[in-house]
Parts: sequence; C-alpha cells; structure tokens
Amino acid sequence: MTQDELKKAAALAALDYIIDGSIVGVGTGSTVNHFIDALAGMRERILGAVSSSEASSRRLVGHGIAVFDLNGIESLPIYVDGADEIDGSFAMIKGGGGALTREKIVAAVSERFICICDASKQVKELGGFPLPVEVIPMACGHVSRELRRLGGEPRLREGFVTDNGNLILDVHGLRISDPVAMETHINQIVGVVTNGLFAQRGADVLLLAGAGGVERLQAA
Ligand code: 5RP
Repeated sequence: MTQDELKKAAALAALDYIIDGSIVGVGTGSTVNHFIDALAGMRERILGAVSSSEASSRRLVGHGIAVFDLNGIESLPIYVDGADEIDGSFAMIKGGGGALTREKIVAAVSERFICICDASKQVKELGGFPLPVEVIPMACGHVSRELRRLGGEPRLREGFVTDNGNLILDVHGLRISDPVAMETHINQIVGVVTNGLFAQRGADVLLLAGAGGVERLQAA
C-alpha cells in the first residue's frame, strides 16, 4: 500500500467513532482530507463539524457539511486529526500544514482526540520532524533567538501566513526528551502564539495504519 492509501485506511477507521446527531471536530491535512471525503457519505447522520482551518472548512462546505462556530459550542465528543509525529505516550508534533493553533483550540474543547496516521508517523522520541511554532510577525527575531537558546535551529516558513495572520518558524534539531516541559517552555516565550507540541493534551486514541491493517490503540 502507498502512504496515501494508508492515510485513507486510518481516516476511514475514524468513522466508527462518530456519534450520530453530533458535531464532529475536524483537523487539517492530507489524512484528514480523506476523513472529510468519507464524512460526506454519512452527512445525514451528523449535525455538522467544527473545523481547524480555512482549507478544511472549504472542503467540508464543498461536501454540504455545515461548519459551526466553535464559540457556540461547549464541548465536542470527538476531534479527528492527523500528526507529523506521535510517540509512545501519544504526545505529538503537529502543524506541518500550519494549522496548529486552531487545531489545539478545537482539540481543547473535545472529549476525545482521535489521531489518524500512517505508521511512518510513529517515533520513539519527538523532534525528527521540525517543530512548527506560530509567531506574531514582529516577534520573529526575538522568538528565534530564544529557540536557539533551547538548542534548536528555527527557520522561517517562506511565503506562508497562517489563517490567523501570523508566521511559522520550523525548529530543526530540538531534543525533546520531555514533551510536556518543552511545550510549556516554548509557549511562555513572548510572541509565541502556539507551538506544535501536543503533549499536555495528547491523543486519546491512535488509529495507526500499516501493512497489516489499522491498529486501534488507546492512551494509557
Ligand atoms: C496540519 C497538521 C497535520 O495533521 C499534520 O501536518 C499531518 O498532515 P498529513 O495528514 O498531511 O500527513 O498538523 O497542521
């Protein structure tokens, strides 16, 4: 199977977690695009979705799925999203698509985070994938200096502006032995909007697609 076929297999497995009549939290990325396309086939069974990006919103609306404003919603039963890396405790690096801030917000109001991945995303220690950090534009220099002090090499994502009007620094070479501490530390740098570590609130369920099928793994 190709990597894209594995992404699709993981995405289809997430349909089993949808609760009839509910609003579904929807992430961003190529794996989630498969999920959105599959959701279209059961749109009569859900009220609609809350989306984590303009791109996912467009795709949802294109399929006739209503997109709700998160501010009108207290809680979502599930949030379905991919990851760039996921470790054994289900902490993740996300934001390869630049939607990390809205993803973290939607995840925060969701009861269960269902992570959909192909097996290449599973790692022992996070940090092989450069950590995305969303930054207020005028703070880019300051935040870059602080990230270098942590041992990383921040690189501006060229030609990219987030849905929130900010910039992304992709931080290469960080040693992330304690993802919760690193997430907290980076969030405290003035000018950082969010970083792509999802460790304080990791995934609850991992649907991991490999050659042998889709494994359904629960957080400890
Ligand atoms: C977007 C994300 C995505 O979930 C992550 O980049 C994985 O993407 P893909 O499913 O395309 O491999 O965090 O901001």
